[in-house]
Amino acid sequence: MNRTAIVTGAARGIGAATARRLAREGHAVAVLDLDESACAETVRDIRAEGGQAIGVGADVADATAVTSAVDRIVDTLGPPTILVNNAGVLRDNLLFKMTEDDWDTVLSVHLRGAFLMSRAVQSHQVEAQWGRIVNLSSTSALGNRGQANYAAAKAGVQGFTKTLAIELGRYGITVNAVAPGFIVTDMTRATAQRIGIGFDEFVARGAAEIPVGRPGEPEDVAAAVSYFCASDTGFVSGQALYVAGGPRA
Ligand code: NAI
Repeated sequence: MNRTAIVTGAARGIGAATARRLAREGHAVAVLDLDESACAETVRDIRAEGGQAIGVGADVADATAVTSAVDRIVDTLGPPTILVNNAGVLRDNLLFKMTEDDWDTVLSVHLRGAFLMSRAVQSHQVEAQWGRIVNLSSTSALGNRGQANYAAAKAGVQGFTKTLAIELGRYGITVNAVAPGFIVTDMTRATAQRIGIGFDEFVARGAAEIPVGRPGEPEDVAAAVSYFCASDTGFVSGQALYVAGGPRA
C-alpha cells in the first residue's frame, strides 16, 4: 500500500538514502530539512526514478515550524502515516570543554525534535489506525568519548521509542529505533576534520574496528528503516536495532 512518509534531515546522508528507499517502495515522501532549497537534490533524485516527493524546510526543534510543516504535508501529499526521525547534529567535546549551548543544541534537535514531530504526526496515524515511527539512535548511546551530549540524546531516543511503542501500539502504530555505527556521511567527515585526520585514514581506522571489515553506507541504514516501515512488520515494536557491522549492543 502506498502511504505518505516524512523523513527529517533528508537533504543528505542517511536521511536522503532513506527517503529514496521509501519512495522506491511506492510511498510519497516529504523530504524535510532545515532549508527547503537543500532538499532539492533528494527530491530531484526521487522524481527522476518516477517517485513522488516534496521538499519541506523546517527546524524540527521549533514547535510552530513543525506544526506548519506537517499541515503542509497533509495538504500536498495526504496524511503522513510513516515518520522517520533522522535529523541530527553533533557538538562533540570532552565534558570539561562542553558548553551549555553544545548540550542544549544536541538534546534539542534529537530529543525535542523527535518529540515534536511524533506528536504532530501521531494524530494522523491514530486516525488511520496504522502508523510507523522510526527514530535514529546510535552506537554512541552505549557511551562514546567526547559525546556526553550526543550519547545522552541517543540513549534518550531509545527510552522515547519504547514508551511511544507502549502508548501507540493499540492504534496499530509501531515505534522502533535504528542505531547505526560508523556510516560514511558528512557527519563523519566533519568528525575526521575536527580531530585533524584525513577522511580516508579515519575511515580505514574505523573499518579496522568493524567485524564485517568496512564502514557502513547510508543505504545500509535505509534498509533497516525500511524493514520497520513495512506493512508486515506490525508485531515488531519498541526495539532498537544496531546497524553497525557487528554486535554493538
Ligand atoms: P548528516 O549531518 O549528513 O545529515 C543530517 C541532516 O539533518 C542534515 O541535512 C541537517 O541539515 C539536518 N538537520 C540538522 N538539524 C536539523 C533540524 N533542527 N531540523 C531539521 N533538519 C536538521 O548526518 P547523517 O550522518 O546522515 O546522520 C543522520 C542521523 O543518523 C542523525 O540522527 C545521526 O545522529 C544518526 N547517526 C549517524 C551516524 C553516522 O555515522 N553518520 C551513526 C549513528 C547515528
